[in-house]
Amino acid sequence: MRLLQYAVVAVLLFASATIAQTPDPAQRQAEAAAVTAEQQEEETVLAEGEGRSEVFGYCTACHNTALIRRSAFTRERWDELMDWMTEKHEMNPIEGEFRDTIVDYLARHYGPRTRGPRGGNPFLN
Ligand code: HEC
Repeated sequence: MRLLQYAVVAVLLFASATIAQTPDPAQRQAEAAAVTAEQQEEETVLAEGEGRSEVFGYCTACHNTALIRRSAFTRERWDELMDWMTEKHEMNPIEGEFRDTIVDYLARHYGPRTRGPRGGNPFLN
């Protein structure tokens, strides 16, 4: 009967060693989160200039900067967009100097005339 006991212990040891090598769901989730964090944007994806931190900080709460970077709006349209985002998408209203800083930044760096001679093709700019 001793032999059988040894056999049971051996099987259990083997089984626990196998389980230990399989990452548990929490660990896999943590690894996935780390990968996602690496893919997150840095402020420097936006054009350098006054107002960049404000725009990055405020505008990436709901979406990344791709929507901003692919847009080429006049100052007026950017300004309207602030209200549209508030009315349609429940963005907290931006007002006063803070709004000027943001809209000025957007119009200066993501305006129709800052697109250059290639017509704003994002793959060429
Ligand atoms: C409260 C959430 C929220 C915040 C904060 C926010 N947006 Fe948006 N924005 C949205 C949603 C939702 C859409 C629509 C997304 C879609 O169509 O996929 C959108 C769309 C846009 C678009 C595309 C508009 C178009 O017609 O192509 C631009 C540009 C944009 N946002 C810029 C900004 C800027 C600049 C800021 C910062 C001032 C900002 N967003 C802050 C929610 C937000």
